[in-house]
Amino acid sequence: MNEAGRRWLKVPAADYDGHMGLESVGQTQKLSRIFADLLQQHPPKKGIAVLGCATGNGFEHIPNDKMVRVVGVDVNLNYLHLLKERHGERLRWLETQCCDVLRCQFPEQAFDHIHAALLFEYTDPKAVLEKVRQWLTDSGVLSVVLQHPSKAVGTVSDSPFPGVKILHDVITLVPPDEFIALAEGAGLTMQSREHVPLPQGKAFEVLVFKPA
Ligand SMILES: C[S@@+](CC[C@H](N)C(=O)[O-])C[C@H]1O[C@@H](n2cnc3c(N)ncnc32)[C@H](O)[C@@H]1O
Repeated sequence: MNEAGRRWLKVPAADYDGHMGLESVGQTQKLSRIFADLLQQHPPKKGIAVLGCATGNGFEHIPNDKMVRVVGVDVNLNYLHLLKERHGERLRWLETQCCDVLRCQFPEQAFDHIHAALLFEYTDPKAVLEKVRQWLTDSGVLSVVLQHPSKAVGTVSDSPFPGVKILHDVITLVPPDEFIALAEGAGLTMQSREHVPLPQGKAFEVLVFKPA
């Protein structure tokens, strides 16, 4: 696991959830809404994997269909416990994998939707994209949310929650154009791209890819 992953192990779930939910940060609701829209546009029929799923923001939008495999992946076991507590009753077949996404093992073509929101800032995008391509069915989609680089604001928003401050020097924002080039190199073609403004001058870039 890289240093960023190790730092995430030290961020208490309460600080993470509290920080993301702050009105000034405004990320929890936005990310949940974005995931809901992506699920509506690309409903999984075989399986969905959510990489860097944290405590399960947005899982309430995953369809309740026992024919569809649902997997949440994260390095932080406490987050995954909360995810199970919050969503395990509705999604009884929900699986969690506590591992570095680069060490995860899934069969080829296991999923027809893979979602990763604000994960690529903490890991090696090229290596993850190569794995994702193998896990996706030929008609599947990868949906990605990146934090848009901005000169005007810091990478980790100001917050009264002390736990998140240890992330400020391990976050590496990936410019969307660079990410698209890496995805193309891994055998994925961009299908759509959307710029989503946030409070404090930040923005997300929402990208959807299909196998080339
Ligand atoms: C900013 S949060 C993700 C937000 C979440 N996806 C959402 O939509 O609300 C980043 C998550 O990625 C996880 N993470 C960081 N590096 C990881 C890695 N190498 N493999 C798996 N999970 C990782 C962290 O523990 C954290 O839960």
